[in-house]
Amino acid sequence: MAKFRKAAKSKILVTSALPYSNGPIHLGHLVEYTQTDIFVRFLRLIGEDVIYVCADDTHGAPIEIKADELGIKPEQLIAQVYDEHVRDFKDFLISFDNYYTTHSPENQHYSDLIFLKLKNNGFVYTKDIEVTYCEHCKRTLPDRYVKGKCPKCNAPDQYGDVCENCNAAYKTIDLIDPYCVICKNRPVRKSSTHYFFRLSKFSKKLESWLSKNKNLQPEIVNFVSNWIKNGLEDWNISRDGPYFGFKIPGEEDKYYYVWLDAPIGYIASTENYCKKNNLKTEYYWNSKDAKIYHFIGKDIIYFHFLFWPAMLIGSGFSLPHDIVVHGFLTVNGEKMSKSRGTFFTAREFLQKYNPEYLRFYYAGMLSKKMSDIDLSFSDFGKKVNNELAANVGNFCYRVLNFLNRNFEGKVKDFDKNKLLINEINKKIKNIEKNYYAINFNEAVKDILHISSLGNKYFQDNEPWKLINSDKEKAHKVLGLCVNIVKNLSILLEPILPNFSSNLQHQLNLKNLKWGDLNFSLKSHKIGKDEIYIRKMEEKEEKPQPHSPKEETKKEFPLNLKVAKITEVMDHPNADKLYILQIDLGNEKRQLVAGLKGHYSPEELLNKKIVVITNLKYAKLRGVESQGMLLAGDDGQNVGVLTVDKSEAGKNVYFEGFENSTKELSFDEFLKLKITIQNSHAVFEGKELKTDKETVRAEKVNDGGKVR
Ligand code: 2FM
Ligand code: ZN
Repeated sequence: MAKFRKAAKSKILVTSALPYSNGPIHLGHLVEYTQTDIFVRFLRLIGEDVIYVCADDTHGAPIEIKADELGIKPEQLIAQVYDEHVRDFKDFLISFDNYYTTHSPENQHYSDLIFLKLKNNGFVYTKDIEVTYCEHCKRTLPDRYVKGKCPKCNAPDQYGDVCENCNAAYKTIDLIDPYCVICKNRPVRKSSTHYFFRLSKFSKKLESWLSKNKNLQPEIVNFVSNWIKNGLEDWNISRDGPYFGFKIPGEEDKYYYVWLDAPIGYIASTENYCKKNNLKTEYYWNSKDAKIYHFIGKDIIYFHFLFWPAMLIGSGFSLPHDIVVHGFLTVNGEKMSKSRGTFFTAREFLQKYNPEYLRFYYAGMLSKKMSDIDLSFSDFGKKVNNELAANVGNFCYRVLNFLNRNFEGKVKDFDKNKLLINEINKKIKNIEKNYYAINFNEAVKDILHISSLGNKYFQDNEPWKLINSDKEKAHKVLGLCVNIVKNLSILLEPILPNFSSNLQHQLNLKNLKWGDLNFSLKSHKIGKDEIYIRKMEEKEEKPQPHSPKEETKKEFPLNLKVAKITEVMDHPNADKLYILQIDLGNEKRQLVAGLKGHYSPEELLNKKIVVITNLKYAKLRGVESQGMLLAGDDGQNVGVLTVDKSEAGKNVYFEGFENSTKELSFDEFLKLKITIQNSHAVFEGKELKTDKETVRAEKVNDGGKVR
């Protein structure tokens, strides 16, 4: 009897474009690696059989010339850059299964194999062409190494390929009054024999692939098809020495053009991975079941939608299942530029920020679209603070913290709130769909929505009150919240892998998979809670690595904010204490304050006060105080510090000082000397204020102390 086995999952191979070995990884590169990495991490999480390979793109004239300038061998240059790239990718949590180099024996093998197959199949021929040669430097000059007047518009100092003034495209030999960029001498024309790939022969096959492959982005298929209709030109795939690359078989001083062996580097890196993992390269590159995904930027569409598939067809390899094309990165709305101070290397960024902030920001902007994405630094700060810290981070922390403080970290059971659970489950399905479809911006929206639902549920149920009237119900409310936190840790893993594993550690869980997304956690003890995502300080919102003037604000240990009192209750176990509910703009908290005898509840209600938000939470006679309000005290009277015109949540500060976000102990607070002078709170000669007004102290005369 025939036995049926479940078909094995198809193998998936994912690549990002190979970065050149002549410079550092920058924020523009990271759009693509982040996009690819999120996709790959999602596929792993859901249980797909996927590998992610990449490599340094090491060949070409610029690398050879740069090494020459530095007085080192190209091999030394690419080895140095390789180490830097690997380090940068690791720090940005890019999870390659294999990161290789195109200067490898595997790549030489496949380059020769493909070149010879193409040649034997009649797709390669030789032809003499005229090139620009510098007799002084003894080299043929590539596009970027010869300049002169544009043959169309006469603009001076134009490169050998296109004119930046009139956009005309031409050959290096067409330049008027050309000069060698390296030595400034006038080059000569020289005839040289070159290898050409008959791209034109592939028009039909390319067109049919483009029209049949429904994964490709339609707008791209559209204009690539138009290029084909307008006629494809054959492609020069050789370069004269000196050149850093692979020598063409049978030639003395001719090399493959870097763009021939670069994409072959995808295969070579796969082979290198397979060797180490007991697999076969054919499983990926010669199999109907495998799916190959390339992620690229819009500047290299021509290579990936025309040359590369034609090479694959001509030499018998599989075609990509999908090529995902993203747009360029702009910074603060403009092209990244060193002179404007908007060019950031990966390293420079890391000196300032948590790399997961960038991953989160990019994820929120990325979809399967070719449109450019903008990194606006004010937006970046807002997203990190309001979405990541105030929504997700705050929800997770307050839930775990509350459970630890009030229920010894134990989840017994959870509230089977069908409405909420169904709504979240629906969102989870949607998120899965959008991760598969590479529409990460939509996934992020839904994840944030789930977190908001969690926050609202917590807030609406007021467990800090409920615990006094119905402890069991409060415990179940927390149980449901912990389940939401667990699900968030899984949903966010592709984007924020460190945050997710840290959160799972706090939950006393590990390596959760997509299949663990459910509401089932009970009879479980969590671990220690911890604030993991912190708000970025406002001063960080404009990180300028080349910023001309450094602001020299001193750090002030308190983080002070305007808060509005929304509810006043008597403390059940203390005569002098009130329990206040306060609104801090984007969050609500509870304070315990010793104001009884100084204020009636009516006097306090709706008052706008000043609150320390970074003080360690404390229990006062069994009730949690999540911060402390500031008041003046002259030994007789106690009066709160108050404002009228400023909204809840606004910063309160002393001029010249920057509020800290580090957690503060009560003892540290007591060491500070803030006094009342002329009804104002004063520290080191500066008055406490908001952007709108000076803070006023009620009821207290000169000489009072703030406590
Ligand atoms: O444009 C670039 O940065 C190239 N180094 C990308 C190469 S991708 C692949 F085809 F190798
Ligand atoms: Zn020269």
